[in-house]
Amino acid sequence: MNKNFLKIGVMDSGLGGLSVLNELSKKIPSADLVYYGDLANSPYGEKNKDEVISYVDEICKFFLTKNVEAILLACNTATSVAVDLVRKKYSIPIFGMEPAIKPAILENPNEQIAVLATPLTLKEKKFLELGKILEQENQIYSISCKGLSKLIDHANFYEIEIYLKPILEDLKIRKINTIVLGCTHYVLIKNLFLNYNPYFKIYDGNKGTVNHIEKTLIPLPIEREASLDIFLNGGTEKDFEIAYTYLNNHLHNEGNYVK
Ligand code: DGL
Repeated sequence: MNKNFLKIGVMDSGLGGLSVLNELSKKIPSADLVYYGDLANSPYGEKNKDEVISYVDEICKFFLTKNVEAILLACNTATSVAVDLVRKKYSIPIFGMEPAIKPAILENPNEQIAVLATPLTLKEKKFLELGKILEQENQIYSISCKGLSKLIDHANFYEIEIYLKPILEDLKIRKINTIVLGCTHYVLIKNLFLNYNPYFKIYDGNKGTVNHIEKTLIPLPIEREASLDIFLNGGTEKDFEIAYTYLNNHLHNEGNYVK
């Protein structure tokens, strides 16, 4: 097959998936990308499973109207509850996220690792099974971060720092230095963790997922200028402004807070 284009739909409940989109556009720069942030229905991590499944299904249908050839659920919560179902329902490849617990455990044997994720992700079978498969459940210290993704969507950095303070202090008391960010939103604020402790070892699933996509989607498009369309369901002008700032990596590279 000689193909010179590839279009991928990337979804999240809000802006967290932009952290994965950043990696994806670096890895496959010639792919056209369509981003869908479901701000009107977020946070997924605090909804019930059936609600999230129906949101994800609707977004997959939306992507098909845009003629995407693959979909990425750039959201750990959506992946845990819906990826198996939408994979069965749609014939195009559908990728998902997984908290990077495996590399964290393998590279830090006998150490406690903290996994930060949404309440729904931590409740789901996929997460519980992952700990069991690795036979290292005792090594995993789960922290359910209700409310955090919404603060990140709003770029509310003052409140984010207040939110993180007790979590970071708890990690210090427990002498935990290895953290798995099990929600794509949290990757956007990785620097706040490192500002607190530059020795933290932080893992996320973004690179692993993107590498897997690159290996699976063969042939890749030839060099060309790619397009990026961003849809924010219920998004205001301000939400788009925040999205572009995250997208350009300004927040965690230059510490430019959005006012
Ligand atoms: N970004 C999402 C995740 O990776 C979920 C945030 C939310 O809507 O609760 O889990």
